Amino acid sequence: MRTGTTTPIEPGLPFTGPWLLAPMEGVTEPCFRGLVLARNPARELGGAFTEFVRVSDRALPEATLRAHLGDERFDAPVGLQLMGATHEHVAETARRAVAAGAPLIDLNFGCPARGALRGCAGSALLREPRALEQLTSVVVRAVPDTPVTAKIRAGFDDDTLLEDLARAAEAGGARMLTVHCRTRAEAYQPEVHWERIARAVAATRLPVCGNGGIADHADLTRMRTETGCRFAMVGHGALRDPWIFSGGCPSPREAARFLVEYATGLPQRRRVTRIKQLMRHWTAGALFGSAGYDQPERQRWLREPDPEQLIGYIEGAADMAVC
Ligand SMILES: Cc1cc2nc3c(=O)[nH]c(=O)nc-3n(C[C@H](O)[C@H](O)[C@H](O)COP(=O)(O)O)c2cc1C
Repeated sequence: MRTGTTTPIEPGLPFTGPWLLAPMEGVTEPCFRGLVLARNPARELGGAFTEFVRVSDRALPEATLRAHLGDERFDAPVGLQLMGATHEHVAETARRAVAAGAPLIDLNFGCPARGALRGCAGSALLREPRALEQLTSVVVRAVPDTPVTAKIRAGFDDDTLLEDLARAAEAGGARMLTVHCRTRAEAYQPEVHWERIARAVAATRLPVCGNGGIADHADLTRMRTETGCRFAMVGHGALRDPWIFSGGCPSPREAARFLVEYATGLPQRRRVTRIKQLMRHWTAGALFGSAGYDQPERQRWLREPDPEQLIGYIEGAADMAVC
């Protein structure tokens, strides 16, 4: 679906628009990403990311990285996100990712999972700005012709190191800093502190991508206005409504069509879990609401154990008069 009609909006970065789809493990594999990228113009949804790719005791093979990037290309780029702590393995994986076609490498310094912390990766580095800087700089040197970006949370237990972390990413040579404005300790609590994004903007010359708590299309611009960030990134909001970037209002039929294409584009073994995971968040097209089905019907779909039956319900929604 590449038309080649859009150009990057920020020097040194490949993004074609100001809004970005967040990396989400178990969600932003090629199928979901492709469906979202196809439904939002590249001048709005300017880029997306793979889910994090964990690098532990060895560099990952190019084939694995190619699989994360997927076959389809869009006008908006898809950055490959790496999470690891061992410099040489992460650097070599970054080199292979570029060879596999990654237009950008993003480094994950925010994952709160215990496995990441045990391996001193992800949010573990939020306690050590110097270590964050060193890893960033090793990867930047490994892929000198490809932008490297860093994604942090506002801190580990609190936000006192936020400015140090922002400056560490800049000193390490990152080209953009994404700030998820919750700390690791705050997990995914509903309350968000966008002023932390403004603090990061003030602390660094890097373009900052603000992230955390964007609930609807209007919030994208509001976050930019209130914090001064250059880009804004959406996670949960895109699970509720993949059209959030363009502000489009899909009909219930279009919303159901997305779910059908998602279900059928996924490998058989993942279909039911993934589609149910998405349906738990879904609000697009008011498919379960005023324009479509009621909540008990959503619950019935969520309880359905038979994959064929579940897809049948969704296909029915995409075809029926209710839509
Ligand atoms: C299901 C899920 C998986 C996630 N996986 C990743 C990941 O692989 N890498 C990452 O940097 N952040 C990951 N995140 C965090 C998001 O990228 C984002 O920072 C977070 O959801 C905050 O944005 P939001 O408030 O718009 O959801 C994940 C979030 C969710 C909900």
